[in-house]
Amino acid sequence: MATRIDGKALAVKVKERVREEAAKLPRQPGLAVILVGDDPASRVYVSGKEKDCAECGILSFEHKLPAETTQEELLALIEKLNADPAVDGILCQLPLPGGLDEEAVINAIVPDKDVDCFHPFNVGRMVIGEPVFLPCTPAGVMEMLREYEIPIRGRRCVVLGRSNIVGKPMSILLTQSDGTVTTCHSRTENLAEITRQADILVSAVGKVRCVTADMVKDGAVVIDVAMNRDENGKLCGDVDFAAVEPKTSYITPVPGGVGPMTRAVLMENILTAARNHQA
Ligand code: GUN
Repeated sequence: MATRIDGKALAVKVKERVREEAAKLPRQPGLAVILVGDDPASRVYVSGKEKDCAECGILSFEHKLPAETTQEELLALIEKLNADPAVDGILCQLPLPGGLDEEAVINAIVPDKDVDCFHPFNVGRMVIGEPVFLPCTPAGVMEMLREYEIPIRGRRCVVLGRSNIVGKPMSILLTQSDGTVTTCHSRTENLAEITRQADILVSAVGKVRCVTADMVKDGAVVIDVAMNRDENGKLCGDVDFAAVEPKTSYITPVPGGVGPMTRAVLMENILTAARNHQA
C-alpha cells in the first residue's frame, strides 16, 4: 500500500517555522519579485509566492514590467534592488519574454540576495557542500524524504532531467546524501531498464504520463517534480499516477506534492538571506 507524501501539509509546517524565526529578527525580511510580461502561469506562481511571504511575515515588493522591457531596464532595476537594504531576496520569475537574456539576469543578482540559488557562485557553493542557499525544488524533495524517513544512503536513485534548476542539483543533493545516482535525459538509451533499478525515482521531465508502470520497480519511491496540464487542462505531473501508485511504497501527488515544498524552501532561503544581512 503506497503512502502519499503530503507536500502541502509539510510546507505548512516549514512555513510556520520560518514565520516564528522571522519574527525574532530586528527587521522584517523582504523579497523583491520581478515579473516581466503577462505569462499566465508565471502570474499564478508569483502570486503564490507573495501569499507565502504574507503567511511567513515576510514583506514582498512586486515589480511588474511590460513584455517590451529592455535588457538595460531590467538590469537597472536589479541594480537598484541589489543596493536596497529593505530587500533581502530578489526573485526574477522565469521564463523571461523572448529577447531578454536570462543568464545575464541571473548573474546580475548579487549572490547574497539570490534566494532562487541560481547564481553560479551559489551553485558552486552547493556543489562543494558549503551551501549558502539551497535550490528550492531539489531541497524541497530532500526535506520530504527526510520527513518521511526514507533512507537514501547506498540506495539507487534515478533522476529524469538535467536542467540547471532541478535535474542537476537534484542529482548532486542525492549524491551528497550518499545515494548512488544516475541522471537520465532525452538522449538516454534503454531508459526503462535504468528506471526499473531505482529505489528512488525523481521525474523532472515535463511530459504528461512519461513515467509508466513498467518503468517502476515494486516498492520504489516515486517523486514527481513536474507541473503539466493534461488533455483536459487538468494539472498533472510526469507520472501515470493511477497505474504507478499501486507499485510504489511512497509517491508524491500533483498537485499537493513537490510544488508547495518548492515554495516553502524559498521562504527558508529568504530567512537565511535576512539573517545574513542582519547578522
Ligand atoms: N520559473 C519556474 N520555476 C522557477 C523558480 O523556482 N524560480 C524562478 N525565478 N522562476 C521560475
